[in-house]
Amino acid sequence: MRKSKLRPSRRTPRRSKSATGAGAQVRSGTRVRTAASLTELPPTSQLVTLQDWLQFAVSVYDQAKVALGQVATTAHDEALYLLLRTLDWPLDSDERVLVRRIEPAQRIALRRVLEKRVIERTPAAYLTQEAWLGEHRFYVDERVIIPRSYFLEHLASDQIDTLLAAPARVRRVVDVCTGSGCLAILLAHHFPKARVDAIELSPEALAVARINVDAHRLERRVKLHLSDVFDAVPPPEGGYDVVLSNPPYEPSAVCDGLPVEFKKEPRLALDGGPDGLVIIRKLLRQARERLAPDGIVLIEVGGLQAAMNREFAHLQPLWLPSIDGSDCVCAIRAERLLASRA
Ligand SMILES: C[S@@+](CC[C@H](N)C(=O)[O-])C[C@H]1O[C@@H](n2cnc3c(N)ncnc32)[C@H](O)[C@@H]1O
Repeated sequence: MRKSKLRPSRRTPRRSKSATGAGAQVRSGTRVRTAASLTELPPTSQLVTLQDWLQFAVSVYDQAKVALGQVATTAHDEALYLLLRTLDWPLDSDERVLVRRIEPAQRIALRRVLEKRVIERTPAAYLTQEAWLGEHRFYVDERVIIPRSYFLEHLASDQIDTLLAAPARVRRVVDVCTGSGCLAILLAHHFPKARVDAIELSPEALAVARINVDAHRLERRVKLHLSDVFDAVPPPEGGYDVVLSNPPYEPSAVCDGLPVEFKKEPRLALDGGPDGLVIIRKLLRQARERLAPDGIVLIEVGGLQAAMNREFAHLQPLWLPSIDGSDCVCAIRAERLLASRA
């Protein structure tokens, strides 16, 4: 077990084209199955070391057919993360940690956390109250979706910078549909001279974003707004250089059929209306008045690439290549958006 294999930040799963084949945004690696087959955990009295507990956890994850993809894409990775966090042992421990003995009080804690994850189907990130994007840690709870965006990859690879005339001079940025505030915070780290607006419709989610903005000490540069897309946010002088959004884009019918773990996330964070495009349409309409002349709009759309290409062909969306080939983030240039007004 090397540091890079263990640390959850390196394994951040992303929402992607649907694992269900329905064009949905359930993340890659999500296993969608019909019903849990476990109602209680098997006995754990024989488990001595962390390795024993890890094997046990992987086996009960499998028996219970838990849905993965919110925290990690394999049962091994998620269970190891959850066990280490419950024990309060370092996530960057090496292999020797596996032979450490588990004390009686720790056994009780491990059994309880596995019951919550495997029997009650609580997502691991809600149990640990944290999520990682790259090296950045965010507080999360049931008020927000668990962060898992492709924007981490696109920002880290500088793909977004190549679309900008002068990335080092980016001054005004907005993250629409901010949830936990994770992408607004990534943007603030990526564009150190920028002021970042972060917009969210749910006051409960915005309270979580407040915790994260404060924890990252970005209260001076990241401003939170309670608003339905841009309704309550006036256009900034000169316009935004970057309008970024990871909106709800799952068609409503897909949300109805999600695994239990995903239904524990706020429906508002996932449900993009009958065809998934309701928020995206509004965002593009309102972005026209708010984009700087050489600005860009960046939207993560899950499995809606074909629908976007059909409905917004006149905007000529550019699809950013992602490592897993899902290419579900598009960029739209201001010139196209402004031309579409005519
Ligand atoms: C897919 S989540 C993305 C959250 C975060 N940006 C991330 O990547 O983890 C979408 C977010 O949009 C919010 N939302 C839904 N409808 C909205 C609207 N009309 N205006 C602003 N935010 C909205 C949801 O509450 C949710 O927090």
